[in-house]
Amino acid sequence: MTTIPVRVADVVDEADGIRSLRLVRPDGLPFGPHRAGAHVDVVGPTGVLRQYSLCGPPDDAASLLIAVKRERSSRGGSAALHEVAPGDELHIGAPRNLLGVDPDADRHVLVAGGIGVTPLLGMAHALHRAGADFTLHYFARSRSEAAFADLLETGFAGRVRLHLGVPRTGHAAVLGPVAAGLGPGAAVYTCGPEGFMDGVRAVFAPVVGDDRVHVERFTATEVDTTGDTAFTVALDTGEEFEVPADRSILEVLTDNGIEVFRSCEEGVCGSCVSGVVEGVPEHRDSCLSAADRAAGDQIALCVSRARTPRLVVELY
Ligand code: FES
Repeated sequence: MTTIPVRVADVVDEADGIRSLRLVRPDGLPFGPHRAGAHVDVVGPTGVLRQYSLCGPPDDAASLLIAVKRERSSRGGSAALHEVAPGDELHIGAPRNLLGVDPDADRHVLVAGGIGVTPLLGMAHALHRAGADFTLHYFARSRSEAAFADLLETGFAGRVRLHLGVPRTGHAAVLGPVAAGLGPGAAVYTCGPEGFMDGVRAVFAPVVGDDRVHVERFTATEVDTTGDTAFTVALDTGEEFEVPADRSILEVLTDNGIEVFRSCEEGVCGSCVSGVVEGVPEHRDSCLSAADRAAGDQIALCVSRARTPRLVVELY
């Protein structure tokens, strides 16, 4: 993975255990463009690589904003990033656009749980600046645990609803009336714990359709691998390899000396996503959108497999 150095310009405590870091380029140049909902690989002071959503306005080329929740079980990733100070140097990869605003939707409902607000905050900035019809519902245990609460309440012209201390069993009662007011042209985006997002999907999918509920995951979903069989993966350069039932495409390519971008190796981060030129992928990732999966022209090489005996891929 190619990274660039960045300097920490500001560190702000946004909530209990959540700090934002504003990153700038040491050479003073602007960052390249990114879409709302994008995330970046961040290499922290201990060399640990983690993905963080970009939560500032996407059209702010002067800086990138990430928010880091200090995980109790941190093995050096989030804990080390909580120790950095203004002036420190980190390294980041290029922003990757996975969630994104649905261009066909006429109304947007964003539903965040806990630290899942970060990608949706970036989307709220973009939708607000575009004058789009949107509402952000943000569930947090308490105000002290709600990141960016002041900004959300004052910066989006009343389009944000904070739901504090609502137990998981009460979310459907809050969101049901929201869903009832939507038409078929609406899109829903959710990010938070897996069970939280399942609940959001259960409320909204019957109204707007499953493919209009866009989910941003932080962790991999469980996949049943019994019944996996071998298949052939070919590169658009002409090389071909057998992928055994118990190996991933990524592992096979790496074993054969082929460099592939990677990070999580769990189908979450999108680093290894490559093009599909021929054959039908069996998607097992948590990073591609429903539309990307249906198109069948991309694949996460670390977890996904093939429905056809042969798959031809183009490495990005
Ligand atoms: S390495 Fe993260 S999706 Fe494959």
